[in-house]
Amino acid sequence: MSKFRLSCASCHRDASPADRDYRCAGCGGQLEVLYESRAELDTAAHGMWRYASRLPLEDPKHAVSLGEGGTPLVRVNRLDGLPEVWLKAEHMNPTGSFKDRIASVALSMVVERRLHGCVGTSSGNGGAAVAAYGARAGKPVSLFALVGTADMKLLQILATGADVHSVRGLGHDADGTRQAADTIARWAAEHDLLPFLTGGRYAPEAMEGAKTIAFELAEAAPQTTSVYVPVGGGGLLSSIWRGYAQAADWFGVTPPRIVAVQPAGCPTVRDLLAGGEGRLDRPTSTSVSGLQVAVLFDGRVAEALAGSGGHLVEVSDEEIWDAQRILAEKEGVLLEPAGATALAGVISDARRGALRPDEKVVAIATGAGFKDVDALRRLAAGNSVPEISVDELPGRLEAAFRGSTS
Ligand SMILES: Cc1ncc(COP(=O)(O)O)c(C=O)c1O
Repeated sequence: MSKFRLSCASCHRDASPADRDYRCAGCGGQLEVLYESRAELDTAAHGMWRYASRLPLEDPKHAVSLGEGGTPLVRVNRLDGLPEVWLKAEHMNPTGSFKDRIASVALSMVVERRLHGCVGTSSGNGGAAVAAYGARAGKPVSLFALVGTADMKLLQILATGADVHSVRGLGHDADGTRQAADTIARWAAEHDLLPFLTGGRYAPEAMEGAKTIAFELAEAAPQTTSVYVPVGGGGLLSSIWRGYAQAADWFGVTPPRIVAVQPAGCPTVRDLLAGGEGRLDRPTSTSVSGLQVAVLFDGRVAEALAGSGGHLVEVSDEEIWDAQRILAEKEGVLLEPAGATALAGVISDARRGALRPDEKVVAIATGAGFKDVDALRRLAAGNSVPEISVDELPGRLEAAFRGSTS
């Protein structure tokens, strides 16, 4: 008997495990993974694979791993006016983002099910992750990226040998994004490939990897009252919510509020909460790489917010850059702008009095600083590197430490 099955999250009809179109044959709804066996911790395994009993793989020996998961919690301790805030340091994953958890499950499935490889869309981080895990597994990966994807993310993809095209309209406009994702999903289903489209609508099994963030939080920070999550396609947020639903039984925790943080220039969650489909009727206007997704890729974002008592916070790109700067300069944590977006949401809520002082907050720090060189240049602006002679050293040392040495 299989360890898990796929079922429609709306009408609860079972789907065929071989069906990689991932659409309910009855109502067209989003599928979810349901487990038939007991949840057990594999204490000998590292990071995410400790939770193999709750990942959609029959045999963990097929795991394709680069050491993903098991990321630390880092306390934000030099910022005034905030309650207790911790960063879940997802930027410390092997390729620098939380997408490694998803890519690890995806390539493990490719190996176990003897599929040919992966095909997907990417704003960069998912692509960098799946390209690396594809290399690890010896499986081909083909990617369709947004025009304007951050250079470093593209270089990561190219360096690990994946095939990549950039597609006009993808990400930035809703129709182009939906059309590209649907085309890739259909092609993957027809050609024995795994779709790497990081949202529950298109890849419910691979997204199970992102859910393990909630398991780690439930174990390491069971008193957490709110988790702030950046939203692009919405897959991360909805996965963390599903993870907490399972962690409630498994680890006996009370699920926290899940708070969506989105750039005001890509308000798909606002549209969803107003009764829309979670899409924009104009192109995105945020510059934040990773969060330019004009239509949600996950149909359960509203359920996650309502079910957990959470809410939406919209922040400007400038607020995100400020949070990125504060983390770099005051805490020594260098994130890309999307990675600092959750903290921007925490700061915004704290300023408007929406956080109680006794809260225990986690902000998901999703991506590493090196990913976005333009953003680093903005942070470093005004600081130059003067060239000096060895003879000038004593004078420069004097100037650098004036007032702070005896
Ligand atoms: C660094 C970073 N943070 C957050 C997100 C948003 O994740 P999701 O699309 O699952 O909402 C992305 C997506 O690419 C990302 O790269």
